[in-house]
Amino acid sequence: MAQHKVMFVCLGNICRSPMAEGMFRHLVEQAGRLHEFEIASSGTAGWHVGNPPDARGIETIAARGVDTSAQRCQQLSLNDLTTYDHIIVMDQSNLDDVRALARSVDETQSTGKVALMMSFAQDSSVREVPDPWSGTTADYEYALDLITTASEGLLDHLS
Ligand code: 4NP
Repeated sequence: MAQHKVMFVCLGNICRSPMAEGMFRHLVEQAGRLHEFEIASSGTAGWHVGNPPDARGIETIAARGVDTSAQRCQQLSLNDLTTYDHIIVMDQSNLDDVRALARSVDETQSTGKVALMMSFAQDSSVREVPDPWSGTTADYEYALDLITTASEGLLDHLS
């Protein structure tokens, strides 16, 4: 059984969390630690379930040597909240939505496993990974820069 089960979460699961899943898995693989991890991503909303990631996201991360084109969008489920050890969200709104989901089944359910992605980024004052969906390719590059820094910190944290 995997030692660390990590679920990356954003709103739509077509822009930020697919890039986070792809980049984190890439770094884990480079570190020779794939056997330690189960890595997934999902969205709090179900609008794009079954779809591949946004084409701009696929292109942005492909330029850094990571292929996310086989990923398919899924919606975060209640079951995921118990299955995964670390639920890593991109922004405050995702954090609020995940906490509300957890509270909907059990007022006392611990949400301590839920954390903001940027809380793992060392030497960064940025708190959220902004949604690039209605932005430009530069916004995808910026989101991926933040995701890469935070993924490095997360991998260190889980050593
Ligand atoms: P993501 O971006 O949360 O980074 O996947 C979004 C993608 C789609 C939508 C919103 C955010 N949408 O409204 O469909």
